Amino acid sequence: MENINWAELPFGYFKADYNVRAYFKNGRWSELEASTDENITMHIAATCLHYGQQAFEGLKAYRGKDGKIRMFRLEENAKRMTHSANGIKMQPVPENLFMDACIKAVKMNEKFVPPYGTGASLYLRPLLIGTGGQVGVKPADEYTFLVFVSPVGPYFKTGFKPVKIQLVRDFDRAAPLGTGTYKVGGNYAASLQASVRSQEEGFASVLFLDAKEKKYIDEAGPANFFVIKDGEYVTPKSHSILRSITNMSLRELAADMGLNVVERSIAVEELANFDEAGACGTAAVITPIGEIFDREKKISYKFGQEGVAGKVSTELYNRLLGIQLGELEDKFGWTTIVE
Ligand code: PLP
Ligand code: COI
Repeated sequence: MENINWAELPFGYFKADYNVRAYFKNGRWSELEASTDENITMHIAATCLHYGQQAFEGLKAYRGKDGKIRMFRLEENAKRMTHSANGIKMQPVPENLFMDACIKAVKMNEKFVPPYGTGASLYLRPLLIGTGGQVGVKPADEYTFLVFVSPVGPYFKTGFKPVKIQLVRDFDRAAPLGTGTYKVGGNYAASLQASVRSQEEGFASVLFLDAKEKKYIDEAGPANFFVIKDGEYVTPKSHSILRSITNMSLRELAADMGLNVVERSIAVEELANFDEAGACGTAAVITPIGEIFDREKKISYKFGQEGVAGKVSTELYNRLLGIQLGELEDKFGWTTIVE
């Protein structure tokens, strides 16, 4: 095990020993190979550089209470990468290749999987890029798929403490029929101005509305959104948000806890009616939201008691993390044990 101050790790890049790669060329995928190089070289006309042919994934591996390493919902990330690849006309990565690459990346970097009880985990970043050159706007005929890993701490520095986020109308993350459901870099580029500004103005994150009507909540910069009230878990139904695997899992956990799970449009004014709000995602896990500030209308929506996470969010968090850390029975079959 590496001598790392695990408990103080930020959510950031940390050099591990290996990354894993495969190449699509002449109509077929290569075998996986391991590399110690942090750099890639590519053609100057590569489509990922010019036309945004790029998609990524994010998932975590956890060291459990029993010392075993568990990866969370690996298969769902594989499926979503296929969805993203198809969405921007890239060569999809065969799902078995995707999963093998992730498992290999964890195994080869096992010493970077943070110990149980440190609050840190190993973040995996699968990446698919068009590396074949084109000058006309066309899909590439060559692709590189790689997975790198980085031990990480919490995405929001507060950890499981309520944050303040900022709702904006003067920027959109994704167009109504655009690329919002794909995990492609362009969506993040589109979110950067609003995101950086929200941080400069003292907020942990930005909250985007639907781009068409600007009436309904879409999602946060790096996470999905949910609210809770009277035994209901409500989360936005929208064609322009990423289908969060964490949110999918929370919906199942919420139903299991006896909550009524509803996916529907959530109008901004309705925020006043809810008891709890949260952002959820691989990096964000569940980040309770204490306040949403509507930047244009200068209205604050507050949730629960200041500085304290809500009861239902806390229970969801404990159940989710309990499964990821092997403390609770994985009755849904969500984890893959890396042996
Ligand atoms: N929404 C966006 C824009 C994200 O970047 C992420 C992170 O992956 C999520 C939602 C959460 O998705 P998941 O729970 O699959 O990590
Ligand atoms: C994730 O949660 O995996 C993300 O991709 C969010 C962000 C770091 C882009």
